[in-house]
Amino acid sequence: MVLEDSRAVRVVVNGEVREADAPVRMLLSDFLRHRLGLTGTHVGCEQGVCGSCTIHLNGDPHRSCLLLAVQAHGEEITTIEGMREHPVALSFARCHAIQCGFCTAGLVMSATAFLREEPAPSRQAIVGAVSSNLCRCTGYQNIVRAVAEAAAEMGAQADERASPDTSAAVGPG
Ligand code: FES
Ligand code: FES
Repeated sequence: MVLEDSRAVRVVVNGEVREADAPVRMLLSDFLRHRLGLTGTHVGCEQGVCGSCTIHLNGDPHRSCLLLAVQAHGEEITTIEGMREHPVALSFARCHAIQCGFCTAGLVMSATAFLREEPAPSRQAIVGAVSSNLCRCTGYQNIVRAVAEAAAEMGAQADERASPDTSAAVGPG
C-alpha cells in the first residue's frame, strides 16, 4: 500500500496563523473543514459549480473545492467565520435571506467581494452577481435585497468616513 504524501500547510485564516498536515491531494475546502474545524464553509458539488465553498484567498473570492490545501500554503484566507460582524453577513440575517442556510456562507463571501468591486450596483448587477451561487430554497428575492441593503449601508458608512467632522470646529458664538 502506498501512503499518500503529506505536507505541513500554514495559512493565516481570519487573522490567525494556523498550521496542519494535509495530504498533497486534499482540497482546500476539506482542509478548512476537517483540519482547521472551520465548518462554516460548505461543500455542495465539489466541481466549482454551486459556490457554497467560496472563501477569500488574499482578498479574492475562490471556490475552495477547486484548490488544493497545499496551494494555499503561506497565503491569507477569510472564511465565513471571519465575517460575523460584516455588514453583508448582518444584512443577510436582517433580510431573512436564509432558509436552510447551506448556500449562505458562499453567498456572503461572493457578495462581499462583488461589493468591493462594485460598491453601488444596480439591481440587475446584483442579480447577475448572486447567480454565481446556487440557492435551492429562497427564490433569491431576499438575497438580492440583502446585498442591496448592505451596499447602501456600506456606502453610507464610507460617506461618513469621507466627510470631516466639523462639529468640533464650531465654537460658541
Ligand atoms: S462545493 Fe465548491 S463550488 Fe460547489
Ligand atoms: S437557503 Fe437553502 S440552499 Fe440557499
